[in-house]
Amino acid sequence: MPDSAQVSFPSDFLWGSATSSYQIEGAVREDGRTPSIWDTFSHTPGKTHNGEHGDTAVDHYHRYREDVALMADLGLNTYRFSVAWPRVQPTGRGPAVQKGLDFYRRLVDELLEKGIAPAVTLYHWDLPQELEDAGGWPARETAYRFAEYAAIVGEALGDRVERWITLNEPWCAAFLGYSSGVHAPGRTDGELALRAAHTLNLAHGLGTSALRAAMPARNTVAVALNSHVVRTVSDDPRDLEAGRRIDDLANGIFHGPMLHGAYPETLFTATASVTDWSFVEEGDLKAIHQPLDALGLNYYTPALVGHAGSAPADAPHSDAHGTGAHSPWPSAEDIVFHQVPGEQTAMGWTVDATGLYDLLKRYDDEAPGLPLYITENGAAYDDRMDADGQVRDHERIAYLHSHLSHVRRAMADGVNVRGYYLWSLMDNFEWAYGYSKRFGMVYVDYETLERTPKASALWYAQAARTGTLADPAPLADPVPDAG
Ligand code: FCB
Repeated sequence: MPDSAQVSFPSDFLWGSATSSYQIEGAVREDGRTPSIWDTFSHTPGKTHNGEHGDTAVDHYHRYREDVALMADLGLNTYRFSVAWPRVQPTGRGPAVQKGLDFYRRLVDELLEKGIAPAVTLYHWDLPQELEDAGGWPARETAYRFAEYAAIVGEALGDRVERWITLNEPWCAAFLGYSSGVHAPGRTDGELALRAAHTLNLAHGLGTSALRAAMPARNTVAVALNSHVVRTVSDDPRDLEAGRRIDDLANGIFHGPMLHGAYPETLFTATASVTDWSFVEEGDLKAIHQPLDALGLNYYTPALVGHAGSAPADAPHSDAHGTGAHSPWPSAEDIVFHQVPGEQTAMGWTVDATGLYDLLKRYDDEAPGLPLYITENGAAYDDRMDADGQVRDHERIAYLHSHLSHVRRAMADGVNVRGYYLWSLMDNFEWAYGYSKRFGMVYVDYETLERTPKASALWYAQAARTGTLADPAPLADPVPDAG
C-alpha cells in the first residue's frame, strides 16, 4: 500500500454514513406506523439477543435534527438512510399516510439545509407484517406492492432527493430471512429463500421503473448488494467448484438478472433438487434487467469455502451473519465455511481490506465504468467510554484506514468509485444481535440516548474535510479536533 501520507481522494468524493429505519428510528407505534416483520420477529422470544427490539432504538424519529447536526459537525457531505415501508403504507398497499412521509420530508429538508446530500434506500428489511402474512417475499405479489410503494416515495421525495437505492442486501432478506431464519421473518425453507430472491429481483426491476416514472430524470437509481468475496481453501477442483456454487448463490443470483438479464445456468443445475424455478415467469428477466445509474456495494469480510470432503480440521465457520440450526445456502450441504485467518472484529468477522479491493475490481469487470459507491463498510468493536468521556476506538480507525486505502487503490487502477458510506453513523439495533454490537462512529449511551463522537468519528471527519487519510498509528491523546 502507498504510504498513508499519499492517500488522498478527489475533491468531489462523497464522504457519508449509513443507517436504516428499523435500526435507529424507534417510535414504532407513532403517526400510523404498523408492525414490520422485524417488530414481530424481535418480539418473538428467543429470536434476538436478550429479546431486544427496535421499539425505541436510538429514538432517531424524535432526535433527527440533533443527528443531522452531528453529521454536519463531522463535515459529512452525504447520508444514506432508509424509509420504513410500514410508516408510509401501513398495510403494504393503498394510499400513503402523509404523516409518515412528512417525517422523511422534514429529515431531507434538514439534510439539504446543512449541505448533506440524502441517499434514500426504499427497503432495508422492514416489510409490513401484513404483506408477510399474505406470503411475504416468496410471494410474487410482493414485488408489485413494492413497485407501488416505490412510486409513492419517489413522488413524495423525488423533487429533493437525487440518489435512490431500491433494496438493501436482498441476499440477507432472502437467505437469512427465509432459509437460515436468523433474520425476520425467521422461516427456514431453502425453496422459499430462492423464491424470495426472485421476487426481490423483480421488486428491484419494477421498483426501478416505478421510480423513474415518478421522479425527475436527473435522479439516479441503484441497488445495494452485499456481494460476497468468495475465496477457496485450495485450488483443488472440488474446492473451486464449491466456491463457484456459493458465488452463484450469493452473487450470480442477483448480479445475473440485474446486470446481465439472466440467472447463471449453473445456479439452476446446482439447486435442481430444491426447486425447478418455474416461478420465473415470461418477461420477468426483462423487467429485472433495468439500466442502473450506479451500484452500491456493502462489504465487511470475505468468505472462505471448501468442499466438505477436503476440509482441514478447523471448526466449520458460519457465514457473515451467523447461522442458526439451518443453513442459509440451499443444496450446499457438502460445502463448508472456514474461519478466514487474521484479526477479527467483535462480530467474529476477519478484517481483510483486500476483499474490498477485489470486490470493486469485480464490479468494474461486470459493469464497466458504472459509478460505484461503497454503501456500507465498517466494524463492530467492544467500545467503552473512558472516565474522561472519550471513546478511544483505535481499532475502528485502523479498519477504516485500511479499507479506505484499498478503495483509493482501486480508484488509482481506474475503478469509478464515487463515494463511501461508513456503517454506521451511530451505535444502533444490530438485528439478531440486539444492542450488543456497536458499529457506530458515534457512541450511544442506551440509558440516556446521549450521542458522543468516538475517536473514529473525529478521524473520519478529518478525512472528509481534507480528502486525505491521517496515519492511524500514532493516535495519541487527545484525539484530533473535529473542528
Ligand atoms: C449489513 C446490514 C446493516 C448492518 C450491517 C452490520 O448487512 O445491511 O443493516 O446490520 O450489516
